Amino acid sequence: MCLPSGSTPAGIYAEMSRSVGAGLVSFARASVFVLDEFGGLGPDDPGRTRNTLQHQLLDHVDLPPTAFHYLDPEDADLPRHCTRYDALIGAAVDLMLLGIGLNGHLGMNEPGSPPDSPTRRVELHETTIQSSAKYFAHQNLPRWGVTVGLGTILASKEVWLLANGPAKARIVQQTVEGPIGSANPASLLRRHRNCSVLVDADAGALLSVAGSV
Ligand code: PGA
Repeated sequence: MCLPSGSTPAGIYAEMSRSVGAGLVSFARASVFVLDEFGGLGPDDPGRTRNTLQHQLLDHVDLPPTAFHYLDPEDADLPRHCTRYDALIGAAVDLMLLGIGLNGHLGMNEPGSPPDSPTRRVELHETTIQSSAKYFAHQNLPRWGVTVGLGTILASKEVWLLANGPAKARIVQQTVEGPIGSANPASLLRRHRNCSVLVDADAGALLSVAGSV
């Protein structure tokens, strides 16, 4: 599976951790790939995707350490690092877990990203930089990162798109009911055959079906 870090999936990770603790499920035969990683930070920065995911989930489940794959934006040969990551992922992940950016980004695939894009270095949009500030205890906010591409996201066997809170209501409505196109990367998931959009009442408030949910 391919997993993001951050506030959006926190509840799912807590539930996964509880379920493993209770012996209901096991990660012993799973493989986990991080969805993206911030660049320009020290390896131990707690805001890095790898470190946050470790803290939120991997410290609490029985995933073998060798089955945890992560991106290193500081690799001296980043294009090769990205190519190897895509090769390790292979044809398709079984489960792709995604948050949604205020501008519709998936991972760090900002508006305008090609639908067939591979894992690569990307520049972050200003809204993304500002909304990531909550993950850092310092002012050195990352302006770029490395992300799994839309090609890998759209090839996944199953996708869960998660959103919670009122700030996401507008982009959730546009994603589900607005035009499909690269201007809103999340809208491309409407062409995916096995994608679930999981929202809380606040994030789903502007959907035309909201009254019946
Ligand atoms: P959030 O980010 O969990 O910080 O809201 C989601 C995203 O930007 O993909």
